[in-house]
Amino acid sequence: MMGALTDRFGRHHTYLRISVTDRCNLRCTYCMPEHGIDWTPPQQILQTDEIIRLARLFVSMGIRKIRLTGGEPLVRRDTVDIVAALAKIEGLETFAMTTNGIGLAEEAARLHEKGLTTLTVSLDSLRRERFQAITKRDRFPDVMKGIEAALAAGFAPLKINIVVMKDVNDDEILDFVAWGRNKLVDLRFIEYMPFPDNHWSPGGLLPYAEIRARISEHYQLLPVVGDASAVGKEFTLAGHIAHVSFITSMTESFCGTCNRLRLTADGNIKSCLFHPAEKNLRDVMRAGGSNDELAGLIAAAVQAKPAAHPPVEELIHVENRAMIAIGG
Ligand code: 5AD
Ligand code: SF4
Repeated sequence: MMGALTDRFGRHHTYLRISVTDRCNLRCTYCMPEHGIDWTPPQQILQTDEIIRLARLFVSMGIRKIRLTGGEPLVRRDTVDIVAALAKIEGLETFAMTTNGIGLAEEAARLHEKGLTTLTVSLDSLRRERFQAITKRDRFPDVMKGIEAALAAGFAPLKINIVVMKDVNDDEILDFVAWGRNKLVDLRFIEYMPFPDNHWSPGGLLPYAEIRARISEHYQLLPVVGDASAVGKEFTLAGHIAHVSFITSMTESFCGTCNRLRLTADGNIKSCLFHPAEKNLRDVMRAGGSNDELAGLIAAAVQAKPAAHPPVEELIHVENRAMIAIGG
C-alpha cells in the first residue's frame, strides 16, 4: 500500500497522535522544564471542529489509529465531545488516549461509552510522597481512584506508563509487578528520554536490559507476539494477570518501523518526536485552505521525516519542544 503517508524509507504511517492541549495539572520533572513553559494562548490551540476536520482528513489518507494526548487531555473541557466525534469516523480502528488519570474517576465511564477503545494512564510511583516529589502535586489518591474507575468502565487491559529513572523510582519495579498480580493491566516500563531541561542525564537512564533482568530474577517472562510496529516488547508473567512491556526508546530505538505522526495542540504536524521541523496546518485552515492543500502539507511533512533520530549523545543538544508541548 503506497500512499501520501508513505515516506522516503517505505514506512507507512497509520498512527496519529493528537495533542488536544499543552496544559497539565501535574508538573512531572521528566516532562516539564522546571521554569515551566509558556502556555499556548487559547486562540492558537486547535478548536474542536478543526481537530475533527483534520482527524477525518488523516483517516481518509490512511490513518487507522488515533491517540489523544496532552499535556493532559482531560483538562480540556470539551475532550469528551472530541472523543464522541472522532469515534464516529469511519475507517478508524483504534481510538486511544494517554492521561495522567486525575480526571478519570469522573470521566472514565463516559469515555468508554463514547467509543474510546484503549486507555493509558501514566503512573511512576505507588508511593504517595514519591508521586508528589515526581509530579510536584499531591494527587496520588485521585490517580488511584481514576485507575479503579477505568478498570470498572471496561478499559482492559489498561496500560500503565512508568518512566523508569535510576535512583528516583527504579526500586519500585518489582512493587509495580506485584501490584499487577490481579489486575488487567499492561505495565509499560519506559526508558527515560532526554528533552530540553528535563533533568535527564546518561546516569539517570536504566537500560531496558537491566529493568528486564531485575524482573526475570523473580518471574518467568513469556513473550507475547504483537504487530511489527508496536513499540513495546510485551510479556506475560507466570501466575500474573498483568502483562509487562518495555519501551526501549533509548537503547533499541524503533525508528525503522515507526508508523507515527503527531499533531500538536497548536496545529503543527510533527513527523518525528525528535525532529524539530513542523508544518502548520492551523493557519492554512484558518485562511480558508482546502483539504487538498492540507493533504499536500501533510504529505510534505511525511516526506521530510528522517530515517532515525540522532544517537543519544546528540539528542540532548537537539533543539526541540518540551515533551509537554509535544504530547509524547
Ligand atoms: N522519557 C520517557 N517518557 C516520557 N514521557 C514523558 N516524558 C518522558 C520522558 N522524558 C511519557 C510519559 C507519559 C507519556 C505521555 O510520555 O510516560 O505517559
Ligand atoms: Fe502532565 Fe503527563 Fe507531562 Fe506529567 S508527564 S506533566 S502528567 S503531561
